[in-house]
Amino acid sequence: MLMKEKVSVITGAASLRSIGYAAAELFAEHGSKVVVVDVRMDDEIVAAVRASIEEKLGRAAVVHGFRCDISKPQECEELVRQVLALHGTIDCLVHSAGIVRSQSFMEIGEQDLDTMLDVNLKGTFHICQSVLKVFAQRKAGNIVNLSSLAAQRGGGLVGGAHYAASKGGVLSLTKSIAREFGHLGIRANAVCPAMIDTPMLDGLSAERLEGITEGIPLRRVGTTREAAGACLFLASDLSGFVTGATIDVNGGSHIH
Ligand SMILES: NC(=O)c1ccc[n+]([C@@H]2O[C@H](COP(=O)([O-])OP(=O)(O)OC[C@H]3O[C@@H](n4cnc5c(N)ncnc54)[C@H](O)[C@@H]3O)[C@@H](O)[C@H]2O)c1
Repeated sequence: MLMKEKVSVITGAASLRSIGYAAAELFAEHGSKVVVVDVRMDDEIVAAVRASIEEKLGRAAVVHGFRCDISKPQECEELVRQVLALHGTIDCLVHSAGIVRSQSFMEIGEQDLDTMLDVNLKGTFHICQSVLKVFAQRKAGNIVNLSSLAAQRGGGLVGGAHYAASKGGVLSLTKSIAREFGHLGIRANAVCPAMIDTPMLDGLSAERLEGITEGIPLRRVGTTREAAGACLFLASDLSGFVTGATIDVNGGSHIH
């Protein structure tokens, strides 16, 4: 049990097919109390997430959920207040909420750019800032932010330039947090996934998907559990001396 009795806040976990959900399941398996967060979260979804986790584990798990739009700073503050009222503390944040849009550079309008940056970049800033207020007080805490291969290679297999830029910003934010808060024992790291089998890949045709997987050294898409595994490593004491790092979960599609 790598996360025994820890309180983990996991964003972007409304879909049972998402990386956020897989992280919630894996963290619960490792003894964590989990708080799943999403702009789409409601009582029904929380119940479905809890039922799915408990079915997988074959035992009861401590699973709560809250609705929060991470692009709104006051909602991130309220989320943290609710989690503190519930559990008294937060040990770790896995921030997986995000949006993607496939658009060519010249197609991206002002509104597209604003929406992408508001959710993926400013949303990451807001949720991290709210959680860091707690972490700074406790002089402990751990952040794992989901970035993307798109940030590393300039454009994704799915997302446009605005998506890549937003995820590049997530990497820079994560490194800045690691540098600024390291002296307090707070760690921050990023995961860069690519081609993980989630709703984000639903827009790709079968032919396009086949063409892409042919170019991946492991010749397949990744599972959400494999992405969650990297999050667990970074959130747990196994990676105690790792901060400001980026872990690739891409089947070798970007070796650098
Ligand atoms: N799936 C992949 O191959 C892949 C590749 C690279 C990066 N990523 C990144 O990994 C993360 C998880 O991706 P996924 O594939 O599980 O996606 P997903 O679409 O299954 O999950 C993302 C979740 O974020 C939520 N969300 C969107 N806007 C929000 C907001 N304003 N506030 C709160 N929640 C919001 C959505 O409702 C959704 O449930 C994302 O940040 C994504 O960019 C995924």
